[in-house]
Amino acid sequence: MKAWRAEEFGTIADVLTLQDVEIPQPPPGFVTIRVLAAGVALPDALMLKGNYPLVSKPPVSPGMEAAGEIVALGAGVAGLAIGDRIATITAAVLGWGGFAEYCLADAIKAFPIPAGMSDAEAAGFTIPFKTAHVALVHRTQLKANETLLVLGAAGSSGAAAIQLGKALGARVIAVAGSVEKLNFCKNSGADELLDYRTADDIIAQIRKITDGEGVNVIFDPVGGPLATDMTQCMAPHGRFAIIGFASGGWVQLDPHHMVLNNYSAAGVFAGNLTDAESRQTIADLTKLAETGAIATKIGRTFAFDQVRDAIALQESGDFTGKLVVQVAT
Ligand SMILES: NC(=O)c1ccc[n+]([C@@H]2O[C@H](COP(=O)([O-])OP(=O)(O)OC[C@H]3O[C@@H](n4cnc5c(N)ncnc54)[C@H](OP(=O)(O)O)[C@@H]3O)[C@@H](O)[C@H]2O)c1
Repeated sequence: MKAWRAEEFGTIADVLTLQDVEIPQPPPGFVTIRVLAAGVALPDALMLKGNYPLVSKPPVSPGMEAAGEIVALGAGVAGLAIGDRIATITAAVLGWGGFAEYCLADAIKAFPIPAGMSDAEAAGFTIPFKTAHVALVHRTQLKANETLLVLGAAGSSGAAAIQLGKALGARVIAVAGSVEKLNFCKNSGADELLDYRTADDIIAQIRKITDGEGVNVIFDPVGGPLATDMTQCMAPHGRFAIIGFASGGWVQLDPHHMVLNNYSAAGVFAGNLTDAESRQTIADLTKLAETGAIATKIGRTFAFDQVRDAIALQESGDFTGKLVVQVAT
């Protein structure tokens, strides 16, 4: 089969090549899938450079999530069958990512594609919506009529958080870095839009929007100075969900400020759920997808020979929604 792989860490253009490799046989608990489409994610860029903690040595096989058809079952796999069309997080961290004609997936992470969802939508569904669900339902317990502030709101996890926040009945404030990105957030359902690059005093604006109360929950995949500033906007009993560091650095939390203002912070990792949590999350998300309350917002689809361009665009942050590679034609 053909697979995009790198034999050493380095820049995408230098190290990522299309190679001929054997189709992987599934170890116990895993399935082999024929990849239909694969979602692009920031860890794809990080792992190629050697900056992703879960991939400590080459070869590197990017493509963290995919939609595919099961072609082989490992020992002990239950509830899935050859021929099933599934969405899943791939075994990229074990060397079998989704930018390939075939890849491996842990059967626990695979689930039937919800009715009405295309291959491309399914390929970009799992990581963003699982992340948003873990953050907003499990970790911060966002309630109807609370206010949710989403950073990186036009990115893939941000777009999922806007939609899930609305589905949970919250008022959603989207923060992003351009007019085009904010238009995208509006189309994703956000109630209030703030451009952090041009806003005069974004903290004052958020206080005004919330009648001086502040926000109940912050969803932060961006980190850095922007996220750190946003802690000034927490309402009493607020919850700050720490997702990632797209800006290059994590949010800086100040325990003294947290104590004086009665708010908490929650680390969020969609890749570390118990099997029961994972099943519950997928069941909830499938239901919401089938009613049309949530959907993958595809920013751009790439052909299989454009994987390098897709990962480079992901790394730049200069796009809206989810980037997807159409693998099977
Ligand atoms: N904890 C988990 O389970 C989990 C799951 C998924 C992702 N993540 C992490 O969350 C982060 C974002 O993931 P994502 O999928 O939402 O990414 P994404 O689709 O690339 O969106 C990230 C957003 O961050 C903003 N940004 C600010 N500074 C940036 C910079 N220097 N380069 C690129 N983007 C920048 C951009 O929005 P503006 O232009 O509006 O600033 C961009 O839209 C990553 O660190 C990722 O590893 C964690």
